[in-house]
Formats: sequence, structure tokens, C-alpha cells
Amino acid sequence: MRAYLDNAATTRVAPEVIERMGIFFSTAYANASSLHAQGMEAKRALDEARAAIAAMINASPEEIIFTGGGSESNNLALKGVAFLQKEKRHIITSAIEHPSILGTCAFLEKQGFSVTYLPVGREGFVSAGDVESAITDQTALVSIMHANNEIGTIQDLDRIGKACAAKGVPFHTDAVQSFTKAPIDVTRMGLSLVSLASHKIHGPKGVGALYVRKGMRLQKQIHGGHQENDRRAGTENLPGIAGFAHAASLQTPEHITKMAELRDYTITEIERRIPDVIVNGSRARRLCNNVNVIFKYIEGEALLFTLSQKGIAISTGSACSSRSLRPSHVLRAIGLPHEVAHGSCRVSISRYTTKQEIDYFLDTVTAVVAQLREVSPFTKMGKYEAYTDDDHTHEGHPAA
Ligand SMILES: Cc1ncc(COP(=O)(O)O)c(C=O)c1O
Repeated sequence: MRAYLDNAATTRVAPEVIERMGIFFSTAYANASSLHAQGMEAKRALDEARAAIAAMINASPEEIIFTGGGSESNNLALKGVAFLQKEKRHIITSAIEHPSILGTCAFLEKQGFSVTYLPVGREGFVSAGDVESAITDQTALVSIMHANNEIGTIQDLDRIGKACAAKGVPFHTDAVQSFTKAPIDVTRMGLSLVSLASHKIHGPKGVGALYVRKGMRLQKQIHGGHQENDRRAGTENLPGIAGFAHAASLQTPEHITKMAELRDYTITEIERRIPDVIVNGSRARRLCNNVNVIFKYIEGEALLFTLSQKGIAISTGSACSSRSLRPSHVLRAIGLPHEVAHGSCRVSISRYTTKQEIDYFLDTVTAVVAQLREVSPFTKMGKYEAYTDDDHTHEGHPAA
């Protein structure tokens, strides 16, 4: 049996999406910028996709720029705002952002910007009060993610948005993990910029979007043609864009409920079957498809590879950093010491996940954790001082 439980890394493309995309490879393949009838047909499909994505976040179609994915959207948002600044050279973000935000911030620091990395509490929440007090008259942008890709915590963007609005500072959110899974309303949340991606919601990889509030100036990052309202050059990836919009439209409230039920079942059963477990992230404001737990006294990598041999795909730390042995910056930021953070396991569900897959995972992980603990030096040493030991001597936040 196989169980794919790494849907926060990427998802299977929905069959309906593949079918829709096929049209734009085989028949409606014209360039959306061409002036002939076929080009205009392609342009209509592009406009439809734009309107569909805009409507889902309460935006207008002309406020959407299609991009090559979540990382590009995040780069465009931060660099696009920063590079237009003459005086305001301060950015506020959080310690638990995705590497595409943290890496861009580190790059901007080298360009002379100063960046404040706000801390988070034990459940991974950024405080709106902290955002407000960090804002100075030099602040060009606040960028706080909507839902965390590792621990699933959903920030209170309404409150953070109000704090930004009170000080008149543009507010960006990375909503790559939350789009279609948690409500996003750019007006209510006071958002100026929002990053979205297609491949987390059963759409194709390499497609995303950036919402840019009307009137917000942005330095383009890809120069060339006048596509995307002259804000991102390059022939539009119409199969990808149409697939993205179609994928987003297929997500229903029933899918969200189903995923949340499987999430809660997984957490409850792990806690019931396995001793010495820590559940990371918020239980109340959590992505419907995220489970993140620490199995004390074992290495996440050992767990991942043993489960992988049994056909189960999970992740330890974030997918993007799981090839390095550095403990996850997110788990360190929520206060877990180095050695505890190493035992993390992220299970991420999709609407295609079945209860049988979850039961197979639960049976297998219960046995594997017991086996690994048998041979764990931590168990033999009489157990480390589980996470009251606030060991800050190890390498921490990669970009702070
Ligand atoms: C929160 C978050 N932001 C940004 C990204 C990057 O998106 P993409 O893979 O489309 O570049 C990811 C993907 O892992 C993510 O989880």
C-alpha cells in the first residue's frame, strides 16, 4: 500500500484540471497577445482565469498578475516594493516565513534595507501589537504569511491588517498554503499584496499569482514585453493559468470539511497511540490539511526514510529544507530546542486522501516510532530534558 501525505509540498493535479489544460496545448494554443481571432480566444481564456482568481479573494481582475509560482510572487512583492523606495528602507516580516520571503529579505539586507523579523509564540502566532510597535516612519512594507507551511497556524490577518492600515503601511501576505482552504478577503484584511500558487491545490506547478492593490506601485522584475499590464514580461503560460483557475474553482467547502476531519482524526489517534508526542501549531486556527507532531527521542530523517520504504510520503521540517540537516527555523522559532525540533513529522492531507491511507500511516508510524525509540541514544540516556531546555547555542534562524 502507498500513502501520499506530503500535500503541503505539492499535490496531484486533478484529472479535470489536466483535461482543461489539454485544450490550451492542443487546440487553443495561440499567443494571448496576438491580434488574430485565435489570439483573442486565448486572451478571453486568460481574462476568464484572471477574473475567477480575483473573485476568490474579493479583488478586481486588473489587480492580478500571473507569475511562475509562489516564490516568484513573493520575490516580486518584496523587491517590487523595495526597489521603488528612496527613503523608506525598512521591512517587517516574521521569523517563520517561507524561504522565498526570508531569502528575499536577506538579499534586501545586503542591498542596504533593514529587516525586522518578528518573533512568534508557542503556537506560531505573530502579535498584531508587535507589528504595530515595529512600524516606523521608515517602514516600506509588512509581510506576514497567512498560513504556515510547516505547522499550519493561520494568522489573524484582520488584526494585523488593521495595525498596518492604522500606520498607513502596505501589507503583503504569502497565502500560498491557505488559498481556497481559508477565506481571504483583500478589502476586509487590508491587504495590498497577496501571493498565491497553483500546485498546492491540485493545479500545475510553476504557476502562481500576485494580487497588487490598485494604485500600488511596483518595480517590475522581468523586463521585456508588455504582458500582465506591463508588470511581468513573457508569453503567458495559458495552459498553466487556466489550470490554476480551474483547480481553484474545484475546491468546495465539503473538501475542506473532509480534510479537517481526517486531520483531527490523525492528531487524535497519534496522541492516543503514541506516548511522548508534541503537537505543533495552533489547534484552533489551523490549516484543514496540516498535522505536525514531534515524536520525542527520534530523528525525523530516520522516520521519513523508514516510512518511505513502506510507501508512505511525509516530510520532516519543510519540504524545501528537508535535504539539509539544519533543524527547521519554524520549529526553532516556536521555542523547540534543536534536538527536539529534529524529531518533527509533517503529515499533509488532500481531498484525495482516504481514511485507509491514514489508517495505514497510523499503524505503520506507531510501530516505526517504537522501533526507532528502542535504538535511540536519547531513550537509552534516560531521555533528554524535553523542551524545557531552551538551548539557543545551536544554529537558529537562517536569516535572522
Ligand atoms: C508558504 C509558502 N510560500 C511560498 C512557497 C513557494 O511556492 P512555489 O513552490 O510555487 O514557488 C511555498 C511552497 O512550498 C509555501 O509553502
